[in-house]
Amino acid sequence: MSTPPIRTAVLPVAGLGTRFLPVTKTVPKEMLPIVDRPCIEYVVAEAVAAGMERIVLVTAKGKDAQVDYFRPSPSLEAHLKAAGKDELLAEVHRVGHMAEIVTVRQDVALGLGHAVLQAREAVGDQPFVVLLGDDIIDAEVPCIAQLMEGYQAGNGVVALMEVPLEESHRYGMCAGSMRTPTRMQIDKMVEKPAPADSPSRFAIVGRYVLPPEVWNILAQTAPGAGGEIQLTDALAQLAREGRMEGHVFSGRRFDTGNVVGLLRASLYFALKRPELNGPVRALLDELRGQ
Ligand code: G1P
Repeated sequence: MSTPPIRTAVLPVAGLGTRFLPVTKTVPKEMLPIVDRPCIEYVVAEAVAAGMERIVLVTAKGKDAQVDYFRPSPSLEAHLKAAGKDELLAEVHRVGHMAEIVTVRQDVALGLGHAVLQAREAVGDQPFVVLLGDDIIDAEVPCIAQLMEGYQAGNGVVALMEVPLEESHRYGMCAGSMRTPTRMQIDKMVEKPAPADSPSRFAIVGRYVLPPEVWNILAQTAPGAGGEIQLTDALAQLAREGRMEGHVFSGRRFDTGNVVGLLRASLYFALKRPELNGPVRALLDELRGQ
């Protein structure tokens, strides 16, 4: 079977961001900055670097800022041009033209599986990828591109990472047989099990390549862990049919869904910027021991 190129990415970004209240009363969680760009830009940039042309944002009421961010801003650009601020102009132009942005709404928070299902019409009958905004991954080859390598039509692929067993309740956990050192044929998937019930130490990180067959499964998936419609439960169905793979990705992953994780990502990406490395190192020295 020939595999059509995958060009569409779904980003579920409708969450309330309660762990960041009160700032998330008015600023969408995905717009919190890592250095001078919002979290969501890192994720969209990964998708674009992997060849995605259409980004479907599954969004909610009060979260327009993240859509506006990727729109062209002619008046701001005209202002920067007139002021001769060419570098800023190039940056503003770049983020306004990264990809075609499509939005769909998730008006009730019924879970990740339900959020992804809202993108059904926008994606249609073709394979697509899903990237979760809380997981930011710095990698030589974009994580989602690593998953897409050797993609077989009809199959799903998730990103995997080994975690300490006591953290299993925070992730979808997978077990199966390793076909290569990095590729697992998954036969079991459980959403947020207690350590004693976890099938392994392999956790799902928020990157997925999914076949269109997942739509019908998702539409029939009953609420699971936490009373929510879980994407993992739908994928467990594909796993039972022998159509689910895991890829142990290479790269550094940041969980920006909590305050310390966001700070860690901010410092890491600041240190990678030549003009910020010195001042940030000096700051860390100054604060050490306080
Ligand atoms: C979601 C998924 C979970 C996955 C995790 C990765 O959980 O449901 O399977 O392991 O993302 O970050 P959440 O973090 O949204 O609770």
